[in-house]
Amino acid sequence: MSRKNIQLTEKLEEYIFRFSVREPSLFRKLREETARLAQANMQISPEEGQFLNILTKISGARRILEIGTFTGYSSLCFASALPPDGKILCCDISEEWTKIAKRYWNEAGLEQKIHLKIGSALETLQVILDSKTSPDWAPDFGFGPSSVDLVFLDADKENYPNYYPLILKLLRSGGLLIADNVLWDGSVVDDSHQEPSTIGIRKFNELAYGDPNVDVSMVPIADGVSLVRKK
Ligand SMILES: C[S@@+](CC[C@H](N)C(=O)[O-])C[C@H]1O[C@@H](n2cnc3c(N)ncnc32)[C@H](O)[C@@H]1O
Repeated sequence: MSRKNIQLTEKLEEYIFRFSVREPSLFRKLREETARLAQANMQISPEEGQFLNILTKISGARRILEIGTFTGYSSLCFASALPPDGKILCCDISEEWTKIAKRYWNEAGLEQKIHLKIGSALETLQVILDSKTSPDWAPDFGFGPSSVDLVFLDADKENYPNYYPLILKLLRSGGLLIADNVLWDGSVVDDSHQEPSTIGIRKFNELAYGDPNVDVSMVPIADGVSLVRKK
């Protein structure tokens, strides 16, 4: 029995795009605008975005926490999949990049569903965890342990292991953590890579794999996405 994943040729990548991606024109416009930035490669792919969208619908998530928003592509994918009473709290340190995101949230008519908190996401998570009421920057979002249905982790890679325990406390039982870039362009298996980001991702992968309190699946889509379900 084979343990191998299919190797994706350019033609197969095109085939996947052709027969699975139904990207709304506004999302495509955001990709085109982001492509003009020097940091454009931080944006998730449309294939991954659609994966996030379908996971949101399957999971029935109503409260989503996004760690790392950039110009807003993944947040659009989540927000457009939420039910009418659903909310997503987006965390980022950049006013400049999230200003672009805000424009697209408004154009998509999704701004009512999205809260944005600028600042260190580690601090933001701790505040939500310790709050006794919804913070004023995220009204109706929820607070305290077990208040979140789904978390998307896509920010500072060196801190992935530090985010992990906070996320596990914030997630309700049955809640889902989706962690991006868990293969980090292949560097996780290359010992010559010892930079903090690679070390952080390796440690995160080990933490999730060794944690008996979660179910885990590492999916080789895009740069690797781990699905971690709190038991
Ligand atoms: C890979 S990008 C996110 C891409 C985004 N999910 C998308 O779909 O386009 C990572 C983002 O994390 C943000 N970031 C980096 N360090 C952070 C921190 N300590 N707290 C919050 N956000 C941070 C960066 O400003 C950047 O916008």
